[in-house]
This record gives sequence, C-alpha cells and structure tokens, in this order.
Amino acid sequence: MTIDKNVLITGATSGIGAALFALFSKHGHTLYPCGRNEEKLRELKEHSTRCQPLSFDINEIEQVNLAASQVDAIDILILNAGDCAYIDDAMAFDAANFARIINTNLTSLGNVLAAFLPKMNKGGQVVFVSSAATLLPFPKAEAYGASKAGINYLANSLRIDLEKYQIGVSLVHPGFVETPLTNRNTFDMPFILSASEAAQRIYKGVMKKKQYIHFPRRLTWLLKVLAFMPQFLRHRLM
Ligand SMILES: NC(=O)c1ccc[n+]([C@@H]2O[C@H](COP(=O)([O-])OP(=O)(O)OC[C@H]3O[C@@H](n4cnc5c(N)ncnc54)[C@H](OP(=O)(O)O)[C@@H]3O)[C@@H](O)[C@H]2O)c1
Repeated sequence: MTIDKNVLITGATSGIGAALFALFSKHGHTLYPCGRNEEKLRELKEHSTRCQPLSFDINEIEQVNLAASQVDAIDILILNAGDCAYIDDAMAFDAANFARIINTNLTSLGNVLAAFLPKMNKGGQVVFVSSAATLLPFPKAEAYGASKAGINYLANSLRIDLEKYQIGVSLVHPGFVETPLTNRNTFDMPFILSASEAAQRIYKGVMKKKQYIHFPRRLTWLLKVLAFMPQFLRHRLM
C-alpha cells in the first residue's frame, strides 16, 4: 500500500519531470508540478484531480517565493528542472552561455531551497537530479558538467545538515534519457533509456529513501571504472 505524499516536481512540463509526474500521479500522490510552460501545466491539471500546478521560472526569486506561498506542506521535493548547452569553442569561451547554464542548473536551486525547504514535513525527502556526466569530464561539457558537479556537492553537504530535521536527500545520476533535451544531441548516446524507464528508477529509489540513485548501471559502473584510470589514459580516451 502506498501512503499519499505531497510531491513537488520542478521541470514537470517535459521529459523526465513529466514522466515522474505521470508515475507519482498513477500511485495516488498529490502533485505540485512546476515549470514555465503554462499550457503544459494546464494539461497536467486536466489529467489529475490531486494536482496544483505552479508556474514559475526557477531563476526568478520573486516568482519562486510567490509559488511557495501557495503550498502548505511537502513530503518529496524533486529538483529536476535544468538545461544543457555545450561550449563549442573553448578558445572563444562563451561566458554568457556558461553563466546561463550555471544559473539555471545550480544557482537557482538556492531560490528553490530557500522557498520550499521550510515547507518540508519531517521524514521528507529532497531529490536532486544531477547527471552521470559528473563521473568523468566530457569534452564541451564545461558548463553543464560544472553545474551538475556543483549539485553533487550541494546534495551531499545538505544531507548532513538536514539530518537533524529528519529530512533525507537523494542524489540522482541518470545516464542518457530520451527527452527534448537530448533530442538536440548529435552524438551517440549509449544505453539510452526512455523517460518513463528513468522515472521508474527514480521513483523506486526515492520511495526507498536511497541516498544515491544511478542508472543505467551498465553505464554508471563503466564510467566509475574509467574514472579510476590514470589521468593521461583517461585524457586520451576522452
Ligand atoms: N535527458 C538526459 O539524458 C538527462 C541525463 C542526466 C540528467 N538529466 C537532467 O534531468 C533533468 C530533466 O531533464 P530532461 O532531459 O527531462 O529535460 P527537458 O525535457 O528539456 O525538461 C527540462 C525541464 O526543466 C524545466 N526548466 C528549464 N529551465 C527552467 C527555468 N528557468 N525555470 C523553470 N523550469 C525550467 C522545463 O520546464 P519549462 O520549459 O516549462 O520551464 C522542463 O520541464 C535536467 O536537470 C537534466 O540536466 C537529463
């Protein structure tokens, strides 16, 4: 039997977040799906009676605070919203692009945590969607990888500080998942999963309050083994 939880998901209007929304709804939880796409949020509301969409840009602190004022209590806070852009030419380093990705993927989490952590119930779980890309440095991923590596530290550090409030932290490292974000990629994406497969793995891990959720394991273990290689060998391989 599943006990009904209040679940807030950022980035619920697309990809992994939308698949998580569908899965948590199917299991009878009360949902707060978030995003900027109001049309998509309206569609989500039509599919579930136990759903209160919240429209806000995670970079805009006033919008985040206004959304938080409409929420009473949260059991599961899933910080999934994010974006990806590559640094195509390292010598013509695109500072604006770098800042945009770091702000959306990492700095904005400060806004969301400040607004929503005080709403968390004891026994709750904060879930950070990082990336398996942080297991190894990849070319052109300076902005995306740095933002997600920052999330790793944030999540692992916050876990220690939230323990006394009886709030757990899960860090998620997905490999490649088929979504509008990866549809833009022109390179091979080994072991790619569908968004609903990814959501199932995240759901299972979150409900078990796992501190670390990574998938598909054949990719994440491979990356972990490669990370043990001497630096010069790894460099050549990449
Ligand atoms: N797909 C993969 O292979 C993969 C692998 C590892 C990790 N991830 C991570 O998984 C998360 C979800 O990715 P996805 O692949 O599902 O991407 P996606 O389909 O592009 O969805 C991204 C979501 O983030 C929201 N978002 C983006 N910028 C926002 C902003 N400024 N304010 C509010 N919401 C914003 C979007 O909502 P609106 O447009 O409605 O604002 C959308 O719902 C990301 O953090 C990504 O880095 C993905």
